[in-house]
Amino acid sequence: MKFIQISDPHLIGDERPSLYGINPNFRLEKAFESIKKWHSDAKFVAITGDLSNSASDLAYAKLQTVIKNSKLSVYPILGNHDKRDIFKSYFSEFTNDGFIQYTKKIDDKVFLFLDTLAEDKPYGELCDSRIKWLKNQLEIYKDKFIYIFMHHHPISCGLHEMDTVADFKTREIFWDLLKPYKNIKHISFGHIHRIMHSSKNGISLHSTRSTTFQVAYKPDNKIEYLTNEENPTYAIININKDGDTRVHHHEYMNEDRFYLGEC
Ligand SMILES: [Fe+2]
Ligand SMILES: [Fe+2]
Repeated sequence: MKFIQISDPHLIGDERPSLYGINPNFRLEKAFESIKKWHSDAKFVAITGDLSNSASDLAYAKLQTVIKNSKLSVYPILGNHDKRDIFKSYFSEFTNDGFIQYTKKIDDKVFLFLDTLAEDKPYGELCDSRIKWLKNQLEIYKDKFIYIFMHHHPISCGLHEMDTVADFKTREIFWDLLKPYKNIKHISFGHIHRIMHSSKNGISLHSTRSTTFQVAYKPDNKIEYLTNEENPTYAIININKDGDTRVHHHEYMNEDRFYLGEC
């Protein structure tokens, strides 16, 4: 089984012409163009949050149009730049208990989409209500392979701001909750605008780059985010018969330039 992850498109409405000289809307359209060309057999496309840059109506309207035109199954979650109520007015089908959290069962696998948004805050969290929902899903599907999607990084990423002011505040509660369930195979997240792979308690994790701007890996920088011009990516995740994942990150903006080479 194959699925695709797009992250952090930061779509804009008309509040500003571009982000760091980049047109986020164009880059998201290019990502979908590439996915349709190369991965039309993917079961779905997950978008792991920061769908909009400043939660404008026009940004969500744009997302709605791009998703509709793609004719793919697309499952979005929220990031710290999003707002639930505005998102819900465009996408009502992803709400459970008032949050944007939901479960998709595909073949014999289970995909859980979490809502880590703490509105108007850069950090993420799971409140009691969301923890209860997650616990319930884990119990219901304890005999299936489970794959989790969330915006905020549930592990340290080594970047000062991301691991302090913009981190996942309920990290310990989250991992305690997951601990008894050995059927959880993989977590896909966004937020850090970088490719990162890790593992914890036998669960593999990864993030992919934003479709718009990236965050430089400067571990000693304690002041602010440094954005840079690394190319956008989307991730291609294959699940094998044992439920294990294989993740590729694809730079799609110049994907038609091929060379014959040797490895
Ligand atoms: Fe982001
Ligand atoms: Fe974020």
